[in-house]
Amino acid sequence: MSKVLVAPSILSADFGKMADAVSDLKVWGADWVHCDVMDGVYVPNITFGMPMVKALRKNSDMFFDVHLMITEPEKYVGEFCDSGADMVTFHPEASKDPMKALDTIKSKGKMCGVVLNADQPFSVIEPFLDKVDMVLIMTVQAGFGGQSFMRERLEMTRKVKQIKDEKGYNYHIQLDGGVCPSNIHECVEAGANVVVAGSAVFKATNPAEAVKSMQIEY
Ligand code: DX5
Ligand code: ZN
Repeated sequence: MSKVLVAPSILSADFGKMADAVSDLKVWGADWVHCDVMDGVYVPNITFGMPMVKALRKNSDMFFDVHLMITEPEKYVGEFCDSGADMVTFHPEASKDPMKALDTIKSKGKMCGVVLNADQPFSVIEPFLDKVDMVLIMTVQAGFGGQSFMRERLEMTRKVKQIKDEKGYNYHIQLDGGVCPSNIHECVEAGANVVVAGSAVFKATNPAEAVKSMQIEY
């Protein structure tokens, strides 16, 4: 039996106390720290970049899962790795050379992944499935925290899991957006083994309990 990995998104934390938020995540028993990087071009919102990852890395030994919602990620993935990311995922349709981006991440000794946004066809990630450590399936349209979980994305999750099993691939399957204790079972039933949860953790009355309730066995 394995347990689902919970990766709370610091997008929902207090930006004035980011280092504290990351230490809190350790105390709450979170598995990974999900860092949402937005550039205001690929998505309409802007969050933070490499300097934030680097600053947080100084005070934390946790696994940093960096989700790049930026254009031309191939230009920046190396620097995110050097700044302390353990996993870097990006949206292939935003890249002029997704293969180069994956190779750069791997050459830095880090884990790599591709993201399927809610409005994108499966063909966007298909060419990379044999090369990645993780496939992230968005369960909201990338850009903002606190949106409602799109249940119809579970069908895509099943498809990505089926291909994984059929071809013997090793990638993690991560869902991101609106995941919470009340929908964790359907996420896992569809094939997810890593979940991002922003509001469901940071806005919870008892965040440690929220994390634990999503670390279910599968
Ligand atoms: C959306 C981000 C997510 C999201 C998670 O663009 O990638 O990581 O904000 O936040 P919740 O769990 O609140 O949807
Ligand atoms: Zn994310």
